[in-house]
Amino acid sequence: MSRDVRWLIIASLVVVALVVGACGAPAPPPTEEAPVVPTAPPPTEEAPAVPTGSIEIFSWWTAGGEAEGLAAMYDVFAARYPEVEIINATVAGGAGSEAKAVLATRMQAGDPPDSFQVHAGHELIDTWVVADKMEPVTFIFEENNWLDVYPPGVIEVLSSGGDIWSVPVNIHRSNVLWYNKQVFEDNGLTAPTSLDEFFAAGDTLMAAGITPLALGDSGGAWVDLHVFESLLLAHLGPEADRGLWDGTTDWNGPEVTAALEDFARVMEYVNADHSALSWDQAAQLVVDGDAAMTIMGDWAEGYFKSVGLTPDVEFGYVPSPGTAGSFIMLSDSFGLPKGAPNRDGAIAWLTVCGSKEGQDAFNPIKGSIPARTDGDRSLYDVYLQSAMDDFASNEIVPSLPHGAAASEGWVTAAGDAMTLFVADLDVAAAQTAMAQACVDAGVCQ
Ligand code: GAL
Repeated sequence: MSRDVRWLIIASLVVVALVVGACGAPAPPPTEEAPVVPTAPPPTEEAPAVPTGSIEIFSWWTAGGEAEGLAAMYDVFAARYPEVEIINATVAGGAGSEAKAVLATRMQAGDPPDSFQVHAGHELIDTWVVADKMEPVTFIFEENNWLDVYPPGVIEVLSSGGDIWSVPVNIHRSNVLWYNKQVFEDNGLTAPTSLDEFFAAGDTLMAAGITPLALGDSGGAWVDLHVFESLLLAHLGPEADRGLWDGTTDWNGPEVTAALEDFARVMEYVNADHSALSWDQAAQLVVDGDAAMTIMGDWAEGYFKSVGLTPDVEFGYVPSPGTAGSFIMLSDSFGLPKGAPNRDGAIAWLTVCGSKEGQDAFNPIKGSIPARTDGDRSLYDVYLQSAMDDFASNEIVPSLPHGAAASEGWVTAAGDAMTLFVADLDVAAAQTAMAQACVDAGVCQ
């Protein structure tokens, strides 16, 4: 299937109101929700007005890799708009665990930044769009002729009510197991492709006195949900996994039980100080050889490179055990809040975010692939090229903790269930709470 068609599958999951084409269909039928087709967009990527002053860009990108990637996109902006000063407003905490609360306070107080990071899909639409706090950015897509360079499904994920609501900068993969190649070699191990192989490798490593799996969930339940969503996929497969998010897969079913049981077992193989470490500190355990593996999104690749490591040399990567052939996806994007103090500057920023130049500066460092279809493949390393290939050929599944699969309220409820579960490892209680979260989200009966 083509990349566009894969996106159509995602769009059908994420934007429930949209009707998308079946496999092989070239484009979705026009619906009320479809973005407006531009009549005569000028073929240019220039912003419409010449901005001045300063712009405040709000994100949670402070860790190695993500901070440097953002800086590279700032450099592209600075070269295009030398008159505009960028205020880099960051709130540390992976997956926006701290930033989202700060942003909510500001948005509710009528004090928005000029532009802010938000995950494409439910996190954007169900939160800020329904609250009428965003300006549509359809006109930016039209003015830059972007409707031709983004897959139709990407545009639909970003759309609601006939408008587009943010500009995507990337595609990230959630279900990746990263490992220290030297530790694996020293212990006679090969990368585990199944959960059985994973636990067997874990036993070998434990016997050698090495932490099998690095975990860093000090930043909240998102890291636990992150590992859990790979286990769910391993037990359900892609089709039933997608059904979790539209109510067609039973949260009380045996596969969810098995995923929770495996999560409880995984916790026997993680570092004892996991609740004191952030995701990147956990990645550092793998860098140092104190742990052999970590399951994390491919921003970990950006982290490994930021500390001088090279993919396929010091670190290896495979789909999380049992998930080969499936790609749990998410997308970072930037939006235009109503009342942005420097609206022209914000539009200029969004123009860079959506440009080929901006994405090809950002993504090779960030550890993600461009959301556009025309990224320069030669700029991407061996891992990222494999991610491009997998994204084009795998089954696509939306990520829960990173805003693609479910509303923010559902993510929070699932995270609360995970926090309790990590403490008591009560499978039945966790499953009941997960099932209830789906009911409370209005998706399950
Ligand atoms: C994700 C985000 C990534 C990366 C990660 C860790 O939610 O999509 O871009 O920032 O959090 O901070």
